Amino acid sequence: MRHQGSAATAAEGAGRTVGSDDDESGDAAPDDVARPSAAELDRYAVTPAGSVRGFHYVDGELHAERAALSAIAQRFGTPCYVYSRAALVGAFREFDAAFAGLPHLVCYAMKANPSLAILDLFASLGSGFDIVSGGELARVQAAGGDPRNVVFSGVGKSDAEMEAALAAGVLCFNVESPAELDHLAAVAARMSVRAPISFRVNPDVDPRTHPYIATGLRESKFGVGIDCAHALYRRAAAMPSIEIRGIDMHIGSQITELAPYREAAAKMLSLVDALVGDGIVLSHVDFGGGLGTRYRDEAPVAIADYAAMVRELMRGRNERLLFEPGRRLVADAGVLLTRVRVVKAAGERRFAVVDAAMNDLLRPALYGAWHAVDAVHPRTEGAARYDIVGPVCESGDFLAHDRMLALAEGDLLAVRSAGAYAMAMSSNYNARPRASEVLVDDDVTHLIRRRETFAELIAQETRLPPQSAR
Ligand SMILES: Cc1ncc(COP(=O)(O)O)c(C=O)c1O
Repeated sequence: MRHQGSAATAAEGAGRTVGSDDDESGDAAPDDVARPSAAELDRYAVTPAGSVRGFHYVDGELHAERAALSAIAQRFGTPCYVYSRAALVGAFREFDAAFAGLPHLVCYAMKANPSLAILDLFASLGSGFDIVSGGELARVQAAGGDPRNVVFSGVGKSDAEMEAALAAGVLCFNVESPAELDHLAAVAARMSVRAPISFRVNPDVDPRTHPYIATGLRESKFGVGIDCAHALYRRAAAMPSIEIRGIDMHIGSQITELAPYREAAAKMLSLVDALVGDGIVLSHVDFGGGLGTRYRDEAPVAIADYAAMVRELMRGRNERLLFEPGRRLVADAGVLLTRVRVVKAAGERRFAVVDAAMNDLLRPALYGAWHAVDAVHPRTEGAARYDIVGPVCESGDFLAHDRMLALAEGDLLAVRSAGAYAMAMSSNYNARPRASEVLVDDDVTHLIRRRETFAELIAQETRLPPQSAR
């Protein structure tokens, strides 16, 4: 796939001349993408599964690649999301290379982190994209991604979103209900085109994850029940404005076991075989996303084991494979950099009030999610148990509870594994401008999103006319 362009990134060189991102781009088909080189793996800390982490201590200070986090905080302020380019590239290549030799396309689930610079980087590596809205399609296009490598998921696509995706020529709509099939058929007929589809089947499998991110159970709002899917394929096959391409599943997120995938995929593939009896032959099978990462002490599935399972399930089959990984490609590649504003005690508890809050990182408040928090310059004395909380007026505004840390006002902290569902879920609650984002490439820092201004926060609003205000 040809990478179509380059998103604008403000190059903020920390010393050396800013390199071009083109060294990772080119015409290589996904199958030809190489694993991270030995030198690349040696340069940075490496996860047990073999992918690059990108963050490590040098002379007592936490660095992103070769850039000191204190220098980044000084230059761009806090709170600030910091990403490692090597970690992003390493994670993508590890996933992609695991399926070498099989026809496949990795469609990065961009909801995890929709930064233009990250989309641009993944597009240059040969990634497609899994989108869930017209806005995400517009982001792919703005980042130079190829819509022909886009799958469109989501339970409530509007007619306007369907039109935009058909006009852009997306690879496939993952249809999630009979009503959506009817809407899509009507929109495509109006445009005199055929809409390429898969059904997202709901295999009724428990992914054993947090209930908010389990999507493959019978009662879930997602997908169509696997028992009604065959009839739906028959109905779709008779629709002139619909072109059946594949089948899709996505059973949940932060999954740390292979068994639910195996069970769900086996059900999905037996449906694919049954469809042949009706003359319906699918050209692709989409395994969705969901592979978990280690936030605390989870034992994530190794990509190699996941790939071995997929290869075994696909033995003797010809369908092209699609995958929709999100978290696994980006979570470890980011930290949220924040500064301690105030240290205070209340009864037995001690609080470190930092300048990042639930509006910047919602996961702890939303899911009770656990993120490691490390001092950028760890102190050797004075450790105590702290709740790390933000300035937002909610008791649910916390980033971490009960952490042993030696810290003082003004210290910098790094909230780890903050590359996925972090900035993506940020808001302006309490009239807080959203954080800046920086992508580090070796010793070069790129400001990929500047901090929002207060003027921007109110730019879409108007006051009432004087007669109505009184
Ligand atoms: C349809 C679909 N595909 C893929 C993903 C990505 O999941 P994950 O980030 O867990 O890999 C999601 C996330 O919720 C999703 O809804």
